[in-house]
Amino acid sequence: MDMEKITAVRGFKDILPGETEKWRFVENKAREIFANFGIHEIKIPILEKTELFARGIGETTDIVEKEMYTFRDRGNEYLTLRPEATASVIRAYIEHNMHLTEPLSRLFTIGPMFRRERPQKGRFRQFNQINVEFIGENDPRIDAELMIMLVTFLSSVGLTDLRLEINSLGCPDCRPSFRETVTDFLRGKEGGLCPDCQRRLDTNPLRIFDCKVDTCQNIIVSAPVILDFIGDTCKEHFERVKRYLTMFDISFSVNARMVRGLDYYTQTAFEVITESLGAQNAVAGGGRYDGLVRDLGGEDIPGVGFAIGFERLVSMIPGDNDAFAENPHVFIAALGEEAKDFAFQLANNLRMAGIRADMDFTGKGLKSQMKRADKVNSLYTLIIGENELAEKTAPLRNMHTGEQQPLPIESMDSLIQEFRNLLTITDNP
Ligand code: HAM
Repeated sequence: MDMEKITAVRGFKDILPGETEKWRFVENKAREIFANFGIHEIKIPILEKTELFARGIGETTDIVEKEMYTFRDRGNEYLTLRPEATASVIRAYIEHNMHLTEPLSRLFTIGPMFRRERPQKGRFRQFNQINVEFIGENDPRIDAELMIMLVTFLSSVGLTDLRLEINSLGCPDCRPSFRETVTDFLRGKEGGLCPDCQRRLDTNPLRIFDCKVDTCQNIIVSAPVILDFIGDTCKEHFERVKRYLTMFDISFSVNARMVRGLDYYTQTAFEVITESLGAQNAVAGGGRYDGLVRDLGGEDIPGVGFAIGFERLVSMIPGDNDAFAENPHVFIAALGEEAKDFAFQLANNLRMAGIRADMDFTGKGLKSQMKRADKVNSLYTLIIGENELAEKTAPLRNMHTGEQQPLPIESMDSLIQEFRNLLTITDNP
């Protein structure tokens, strides 16, 4: 009986060799830049108590209402696969009393998130984020610093065609008068809103700005915006953020309708948008969340952060994957059992000496082994048969120039040294 194939879960995807090279390039670059900015890595669990997200992200957000992977475990506890990282980072920050040792904690974490959205181009149910949080300060310089770093990082991996959009969502003091005005504006128009937004009118009117339903969007485009209702302190904060961005020549535009999909934001909110992604056009998003630490049971400590969508970022990196691959330094084409034994020893000794080596085990002829060397993009190919072993010299071909030179094979050690010289590998780089 033929067994049926088991496929991956819808919206969950494998990232294969050929793709992972770009991922590693991005991650290495991120780690390098984060180190320059004094940001330390934190590793947090993928599973948390459901209440963390319900309280952190907000009960009336799409994420919490519709998109979380929540289940009861065998001990009857409600658990959720994290839909984002900020709530978890803040939980860890509070749990480990990090505020006692650092006035400003700069943290990053990289890993998968889970949201049960409708899969489409650039939108998955498991996706990865590069997440950065600065916790402990409300200085607008920090908001600007984060955005400056984000833009620097995105251009350092080759992204062009980016637009930074910013907004201010004010603080809890600015919200009541705005809420009243929006509710007044929408009164009489309820019929045109989707059932969710009709509910949001009472629970969380700001969320209506983020609704994807066309009829809701048509109504909300002419609604008053929160930016016009923020108080003097928030206004001043926003003005200073803009000034610092300008100081670093970071171009941005104010998008007064951007509200972000999570409830914890206060004051600064931002997104990096690109035209090249189609409908899912945000490659990164973030903002300030000055009430979150307190809402999650900690002290009154402000924070600001962002997350980059890893899949979206990688899909925008120019150049094919080969350019990012770590190809073999040397491919050993061996003919005959004796030569294969030698190649087997040599390949493993080279690898142990830090040289990327590959060989063929199929027993195919020279021509097909050379083809293989070409295919794996090897820098050099060493050709060994019984004659070469007997004469203690073997041809080494530079695969880029096609030039061939004889390489003496006195001993394993001398050969390794030959390759180290050739590749200019030294013990003290
Ligand atoms: P977010 O806007 O929900 O913010 O997600 C950030 C980024 O993750 C998005 O701009 C997008 O690139 C990517 N993303 C989101 N959902 C998906 C999906 N279903 N498939 C593929 N990519 C996706 C947050 O998560 C906040 N925690 C960011 C933050 C950190 N705010 C403050 N600190």
